[in-house]
Amino acid sequence: MTEFDRFVDILKAAGEGTRLRLLALLAQGELSVKDLTDILGQSQPRVSRHLKLLSEAGLVIRTAEGSWAYYRIAETGGVADFVQRLIGEIDEDAPRLVNDRKALARVRQMHRAQADAYFSQIAASWDTIRNLHVPESALEKAIMHAVGKKKIGRMIDLGTGTGRMLELLSARYARGTGIDSSREMVAIARAKLAAASISHAHVQLGDISQPDREIGPADLVVLHQVLHYFDDPGVVIEQAARLLNGEGRVLVVDFGPHELEFLRKEHAHRRLGLGADQMNSWANGAGLEVSLFEEFPNDNANKDLTVCLWVLSRT
Ligand SMILES: C[S@@+](CC[C@H](N)C(=O)[O-])C[C@H]1O[C@@H](n2cnc3c(N)ncnc32)[C@H](O)[C@@H]1O
Repeated sequence: MTEFDRFVDILKAAGEGTRLRLLALLAQGELSVKDLTDILGQSQPRVSRHLKLLSEAGLVIRTAEGSWAYYRIAETGGVADFVQRLIGEIDEDAPRLVNDRKALARVRQMHRAQADAYFSQIAASWDTIRNLHVPESALEKAIMHAVGKKKIGRMIDLGTGTGRMLELLSARYARGTGIDSSREMVAIARAKLAAASISHAHVQLGDISQPDREIGPADLVVLHQVLHYFDDPGVVIEQAARLLNGEGRVLVVDFGPHELEFLRKEHAHRRLGLGADQMNSWANGAGLEVSLFEEFPNDNANKDLTVCLWVLSRT
């Protein structure tokens, strides 16, 4: 196929109403086929057919995860530039696109409500649940090691839960802030920090997909077992990067790719782990790069889960 033919295919793929709407939606972040179907109000086979065409033309990238598939806008090369230009030309006030954005906001709100309901239920037992899925002591040693001995002025723990990271790293930072959207988690974290006499950290309610900039800048932002609750972890990494000072780093701890669907159904997970390529591309999108990566195969109950640690630093 000549470059010319390929360009015609790209134009044909983009040149259709529903597919333009899909591109405009995906410009807002990575989304699953199920969510795109709900937002557009079209049948799943139809939406999948449009997505297949966009993907074959290289305009979007597909990631399969268990029984779900996620799509995102092309990130590199000439096609990516073309998609960006195209999206820039679309009239964002067009009524159909305004309605799509409203529907997207509703879908995101619904996910958030589901996650909040789950965390309010399990807040009291979270410390035990976390230990079931994770080789905790080896991991916590590695976290201390990765953070290093250098004094941290401000540390921000996004999705702090019961505040374990604020507790673990309390000797390393001068001021700590934990953010969480679950009232129950925040109440437990507050009580735990008080019981451990950690007075140089505080926790507050907030949405980490839109954190208040006032809480930064930070030398270290932590995302410990949080990103897999988001359809688009890249958005949260971007927000974390915005909270950093010039030398700041983001520490991410999360599962590597797995196929345990029950974690979606029973434990509110959205992503079945995070892959190395995905992390590189999310980090790059946020102006960061992976400066450390370690894996911790699980020797506890669930041997199918591997925990990974990433440090993201400025490029
Ligand atoms: C699995 S827990 C991890 C808690 C803690 N980082 C740890 O490892 O023990 C995930 C936490 O993320 C919080 N969370 C999920 N979505 C959030 C959002 N949009 N904004 C703030 N917190 C969120 C949940 O309430 C929950 O406390």
